[in-house]
Amino acid sequence: MLTANPNANPTTDDAGHGSTGPHSASQRAVVVGASSGMGAAIAARLADRGYAVAGLDLVTATWPEDSAAHHRIPVDVSDAGSVDRALGEAVERLGGLEIVVNCAGILGPVAPAVETSQETFAKIIGINLGGAFAVTRAALTHLLPAGYGRIVHIASIAGKEGNPQMAAYSASKAGVIGMVKSVGRETASSGVTINAVAPASIETPLIAGMTAERQQVQRSLIPMGRFGTVQEIAALVDYIVSPDASFTTGFVFDASGGRTTY
Ligand SMILES: NC(=O)c1ccc[n+]([C@@H]2O[C@H](COP(=O)([O-])OP(=O)(O)OC[C@H]3O[C@@H](n4cnc5c(N)ncnc54)[C@H](O)[C@@H]3O)[C@@H](O)[C@H]2O)c1
Repeated sequence: MLTANPNANPTTDDAGHGSTGPHSASQRAVVVGASSGMGAAIAARLADRGYAVAGLDLVTATWPEDSAAHHRIPVDVSDAGSVDRALGEAVERLGGLEIVVNCAGILGPVAPAVETSQETFAKIIGINLGGAFAVTRAALTHLLPAGYGRIVHIASIAGKEGNPQMAAYSASKAGVIGMVKSVGRETASSGVTINAVAPASIETPLIAGMTAERQQVQRSLIPMGRFGTVQEIAALVDYIVSPDASFTTGFVFDASGGRTTY
């Protein structure tokens, strides 16, 4: 349990947390969507730091043999009750909680809006945005009383630009950005920060599921001329969840190879 709010007071407390101090090995992290892609890389990066990591993912998820998650807990983020239970179990197993990173998300079909059913739209919003809210609420329940915490959601550049033929996905990620800004202001003096990362295309199974033609379109939008890597996202998240990142909340960090211009 922390004894000070390192966001409010830039000194290091008894637990080693301080806004200017080194990363503390005593930190405990939940990574949602940890079996694959960015979530797996973020879990690995935080475990490398010496943090205790609980990985949450669908009960049907296939965990890689080398998964860095010390605990694996099933969750369906589209079900708020499931999120509450899974977060609660994670806190119990970790013995506390400082960090929550939400990487759960689906792309859904890449198709014109007129061909997208209301059910498909609702499903994508339910997982990407409803899930992000459920994770936020459950995380705050545990972090606010301690007066310290870091919440990060993986949004997308699609939420800023609006990718064509991805209306539901783009809307869901715009929603995540709006939610992060709102909750960031609401909790600004609490010691808990909440931020988003908005990547352009990153080499993950999510991108591998696109047609080669669509992948080429996505790549051509990036001035660096390549997709990002999961390690690049993990390195950015590593900073955002650190005690050092104490004066930034309600913000969207871009990782876009030069694509984002605002
Ligand atoms: N890959 C990209 O180019 C890219 C770009 C921008 C944003 N994103 C976002 O980054 C996040 C991570 O994506 P990724 O590329 O690593 O994809 P991924 O498919 O490798 O990982 C997504 C994870 O979410 C989990 N998940 C899906 N539905 C879930 C549910 N209902 N409950 C719990 N877990 C669920 C999956 O099992 C999987 O482990 C997603 O939110 C995605 O929208 C990805």
